[in-house]
Amino acid sequence: MINLTINGKAIQAPEGATILEAARANGIDIPTLCYDKAVEIYGACGLCVVEAEGIPKLLRSCSAKCTEGMVINTESPRVVQS
Ligand code: FES
Repeated sequence: MINLTINGKAIQAPEGATILEAARANGIDIPTLCYDKAVEIYGACGLCVVEAEGIPKLLRSCSAKCTEGMVINTESPRVVQS
């Protein structure tokens, strides 16, 4: 299991889980448009972006994998503006 923080909440996610999967499994909603778990992920729309501490660009949560110690914010002003 991988330990990470989303919106100040410490959570665990299985190896290989995306940020979107980890968030939804813990009751944290991230809006999506092009994501459909029945088809291959291609990350086209950018609606699901989140901010990760220490990473300059916003991450597409439907395709970015969780990593140990990651600190994610899904509601920062930068995310909302994007
Ligand atoms: S939902 Fe479209 S890029 Fe993630």
